[in-house]
Amino acid sequence: MTATVKGRPSEAIVRPPLCEADACTLIIFGATGDLTRRKLLPALYELQCVGGMNSRCEIIGTGRTALSEAQFRSRVREAFAEAKDAVDTNDARWKGFEQRLSYLQGDPSNPEFYSTLAADLEARLQAGGNPNRLFYVATPSSLARPIIGGLAKAGLAKNDAGWSRLVIEKPFGRDLESARELSRVVNEAFAEEAVFRIDHYLGKETVQNILVFRFGNTMLEPVWNRNYIDHVEITAAETLGVESRAAFYEETGALRDMVTNHLLQLLTLTAMEPPVALDAAALRDQKVQLLRSMHPMTADEVRQRTVRGQYGAGNVFGLPVPGYRDEPGVQKLSSTETYAAVDFRIDNWRWEGVPFYVRTGKRLSLQHAEVVVHFKRTPQALFAHAPQAHLEPNQITLRIQPDEGITIGFAAKRPGDELRSIGVAADFSYAESFEGKPPSAYATLLLDVMQGDHTRFTRRDEVEAEWRIITPILEAWAKQPPPPFPNYAAGSDGPAEARALLERSGRRWREVASPAEGGKAVE
Ligand code: BG6
Repeated sequence: MTATVKGRPSEAIVRPPLCEADACTLIIFGATGDLTRRKLLPALYELQCVGGMNSRCEIIGTGRTALSEAQFRSRVREAFAEAKDAVDTNDARWKGFEQRLSYLQGDPSNPEFYSTLAADLEARLQAGGNPNRLFYVATPSSLARPIIGGLAKAGLAKNDAGWSRLVIEKPFGRDLESARELSRVVNEAFAEEAVFRIDHYLGKETVQNILVFRFGNTMLEPVWNRNYIDHVEITAAETLGVESRAAFYEETGALRDMVTNHLLQLLTLTAMEPPVALDAAALRDQKVQLLRSMHPMTADEVRQRTVRGQYGAGNVFGLPVPGYRDEPGVQKLSSTETYAAVDFRIDNWRWEGVPFYVRTGKRLSLQHAEVVVHFKRTPQALFAHAPQAHLEPNQITLRIQPDEGITIGFAAKRPGDELRSIGVAADFSYAESFEGKPPSAYATLLLDVMQGDHTRFTRRDEVEAEWRIITPILEAWAKQPPPPFPNYAAGSDGPAEARALLERSGRRWREVASPAEGGKAVE
């Protein structure tokens, strides 16, 4: 049983309006793809609605598909109307947004396409258009090199009339070597200040709040270390399968798709040392420092400290769903992992000996992401009814999504004559404490790019440090035969091997399906 203490600021906080960004022309490579439809265009529309986007911004979609401007606009309109948070496309705001959209057909791997693009941009400039250019690479990562090379050759990476910026989606490369090679190509064309490597988790308000929670409060710092913390658990669980992204996912898998970037970023923010300032350089220096203290695993360590899984058929929210190998576009004997769990270690003074257990998977029982910091047990079971019945130790749960907030689990006196304790939870919830919805991660990050702010983007050395940790796992997995796939049912909480990863040291994952709670009394 748990009781909950609600945390509220003394008055409701209203979100301040966003600052308007520089005017620019945004050129999207991969404009007919899933990411553009589901994330980029809705985020740009959101920015227009909340006043962040300059009224002179224009958006050019590019792609191989032959479409007229009218066809592109009507595709986008349909996608907005069918989306989960459907938009009223008769609304004047939508009509204004639609006017910004145009389309340029072309094959991004054909160098000639870039002369056409350059001519189009020049014609717009001559007609009084924006001098600033923002190139967004939302294609599979294999196209990033020809796109950047094409832009450079056509003289588009430099811009005498204004700025030229480049946004690249994760995964940035496939391993350390390809990431280095891609960085070389990128930095030959664009100066590092013009490059924005996007990891949308860094745009989530709750992820940014990890920094405020850690470095805006003095009470945590003395206990945020190996002397008080037993282990840390980081989860990003999804109920969705691969949807229409089988081609991308077959090449990528859960480790590259989620762990190399989103989950390592959560780990870094939880474990890094305080930055000297809140600017992009200071913050990223500390993240790189932390990543450098995570040593690459040997093949033996990979065997002992990692788990991969793939879902079979099952039920999610009571509905039957097929196994991964039966999804359209997936190979019948695919060995791509849809689940990954890793016991990471940080070799520095603060964290020596503290496991950071990280897990992610598709088609699990619940959609949620959180960081749970588990403190050590009290040395003595003073309030337990039997000497062996220890209380569950304190926990701090940073809920990234949904139900964004923070829960602190601690012991309180159980009502009654006896001096016995019970676990309770003090809970802070974003939805209850602040008015209005936070901007979506993509809207926040697109605005940052338009404003030239790198704080929430990953730097070249940071990306390489991430791959230095992940590449030995990929290499060892490629050499070792995978466990018999599928090894977990859709709608479950993942493979049994992932439970065993913690059970070996007497720990267990928090149940994926359990509500946020802490400090539960063991009866
Ligand atoms: C993306 C991955 O980066 O993040 C997807 O490519 C995943 O596979 C998604 O579904 C999860 O993001 P979010 O914001 O829904 O947690």
